Amino acid sequence: MRHRKLGQTDLIVSELGLGTMTFGWTTDENSSHRMLDLAVDAGVNFVDTADIYSRWASQSYAGRSEEIVGSWLQRQPRDHVVVATKVRGPMSDDPGDQGLSRRHIMAAVEGSLRRLRTEYIDLYQTHWPDEETPLEETLHALDDLRRDGKVRFIGCSNSPAWYTMKALCASDKEHIARYQTLQVHYNLVHRAEFERELRPLCVDQHLGVIAYSPLASGFLSGRIRRGASPSGGRRSAGSETIKRYMSDERALAVIDKLEQIAHAYGKTIPQIALAWLVGAPNLTTALLGASTPEQLQETLTGIDFTISDADQSALDDLSKWS
Ligand SMILES: NC(=O)c1ccc[n+]([C@@H]2O[C@H](COP(=O)([O-])OP(=O)(O)OC[C@H]3O[C@@H](n4cnc5c(N)ncnc54)[C@H](OP(=O)(O)O)[C@@H]3O)[C@@H](O)[C@H]2O)c1
Repeated sequence: MRHRKLGQTDLIVSELGLGTMTFGWTTDENSSHRMLDLAVDAGVNFVDTADIYSRWASQSYAGRSEEIVGSWLQRQPRDHVVVATKVRGPMSDDPGDQGLSRRHIMAAVEGSLRRLRTEYIDLYQTHWPDEETPLEETLHALDDLRRDGKVRFIGCSNSPAWYTMKALCASDKEHIARYQTLQVHYNLVHRAEFERELRPLCVDQHLGVIAYSPLASGFLSGRIRRGASPSGGRRSAGSETIKRYMSDERALAVIDKLEQIAHAYGKTIPQIALAWLVGAPNLTTALLGASTPEQLQETLTGIDFTISDADQSALDDLSKWS
């Protein structure tokens, strides 16, 4: 596993991180801990969660994923793991229990620190923008957390280029902490959102780039083939995202090509999809998602290789946006 510097922070992260959105949803605490152990054994040192994970799941609640990460963290030297979490989403049905106001951020960070059982969060990310709150209010609250030592660096997620640039300018003008990272939806069948405007912005502003949903929420998992109905996934079976990709000829052509390349290398479709992503320019790390330790093992063990420039280009050409 290779490691890279995360933007202009002093954090060095593995090129694959572990996403924990399935923890407390499709994955119980024991299996989640096994996945964390597997990831660390493979050289992963970056773990991403969010305060709202997995609020939507029946039998679970907001904060459950952080709790599961927190109980596992007790067994680790804290400084061996880079822990990222997020704030913004609704934590309950109370309409005030969400957003990026100073009041909510100050309450939310205490909840995250308590559930994660840590004194500091390495990377605190705004999950998506809050149009109801002035940017300066959010940024000053985040800066105060950094000064208090509760948060080491701040980042944003799902933030359009114009809005991210506005935030960076506001931080510079106020001489306060600026976003150091962008977390973005990026994979072989979802490229334009990052590549069109965000990538040049991240390069210009030296932001670390964290890709989420690297297997297109399971579409690139190898279970989905042209003409066959999706089967077997815990979370992706019946997913609207997958149904949409299944009626997209270009996305299906990507699967055909992945299958061909995988066969040539003796690898699997998800392993090749990840190899393409890790080889894409200007990406710092990609967050693996999995529902079982076995799935994670497959993606982790297959990654320590590179595909040829010709195969990288063939996948590039096939999935190019216009
Ligand atoms: N910032 C944001 O707004 C945002 C949004 C989404 C995700 N994220 C982050 O990104 C992480 C990853 O996102 P994601 O879960 O959408 O990633 P993903 O890699 O696109 O999808 C993961 C799903 O793919 C399937 N899968 C994975 N490995 C497999 C294998 N070896 N064989 C067969 N199927 C496999 C599983 O589906 P089944 O469960 O159906 O088996 C798994 O749940 C999250 O945990 C979270 O940390 C952030």
